[in-house]
Amino acid sequence: MSEELLYAGKAKSVYRSDAPDELVVVFRDDITAFDGGKKDVLSRKGEYNARVSARLFEVLEKAGVPTHFLRLEDPTRMRVRRLAMVPLEVIVRNRAAGSLVRNYPFESGQPLAPPLIVIDYKDDARHDPMVNDEIILALGLLGRAELEEMKGLALRVNGVLRGIFAAADLDLVDFKLEFGRDDEGRLRLGDEVSMDSMRLWSRETGESLDKDVYRLGTGDVLGAYARVAERLGLEM
Ligand code: C5P
Repeated sequence: MSEELLYAGKAKSVYRSDAPDELVVVFRDDITAFDGGKKDVLSRKGEYNARVSARLFEVLEKAGVPTHFLRLEDPTRMRVRRLAMVPLEVIVRNRAAGSLVRNYPFESGQPLAPPLIVIDYKDDARHDPMVNDEIILALGLLGRAELEEMKGLALRVNGVLRGIFAAADLDLVDFKLEFGRDDEGRLRLGDEVSMDSMRLWSRETGESLDKDVYRLGTGDVLGAYARVAERLGLEM
C-alpha cells in the first residue's frame, strides 16, 4: 500500500488518501477482546465486517443519518470522509447483556424499553470509563446541543438497524457507535457498524452471532459472521 498509515487500531488501519478530506479505512483480519488481552487473526473477518458495515452505512445514509461512508473500494478498503473523532463510545441497549448485567442487577436478555443509551470515554488505558452528560460537558468534548444531537442520532440508528435485523430474524441486543465532526463541523457517524461492535441474537435459537462468540470462546466466530452477512443478503 503506497498511502501513508495515519493510525492503526486493534482491527482497522486508517490511511491518508489522494484527497485531503478523505481517508481509507482498511478492515484487517485481527480480532481482539478484553482491551486487547485476547488476540487472534481470522482469515476473511475483515471482509465480512467491511461489507456489512458498508451495507449498514448505506441504509443509514438513506434514512437520513449522516455518516463518514463514501464507498467500498475493494472487499476490505472503505473510502470515508475525514472526521475529527469525538473520543466517546455511544452504546445503545435494547436488552440487558454484557457489562450492564455484570455491573448492575439486570437479568440477561431483559428488554429495555425505551432503549438505554450509555456513553463511555474511549481510552483503553483507563478501560473506557462510563461518563455522564456533566462529565462530557466539563471535558469540553461536545456542547449541550451537540450531545443531544448525538443521542438523537444514536436512537435513529437504533430504529433503522432494529428493523433491518428483525427482517433477517436477528434481535439487535446492543451496539456501540462512534461519532466525529466533518470539515464543516457537522456530526457524522464514523468508525464501523459491524458484528465486532454489536450483539445480535438469533430469534429462532437465541444464539449469539457476533463478537461474543469470540469473547466467550463458544464456537465458530467466522461462521457466525458469515451467517449475519448472508442474512443481510450479501454474497461473499
Ligand atoms: O461490553 P458491553 O456490554 O458494555 O458492550 C456493549 C456493546 O458495545 C456490545 O455490542 C459490544 O460489542 C460493544 N462495544 C464495542 N467496543 C467497546 C465496548 C463495547 O464495540 N469498546
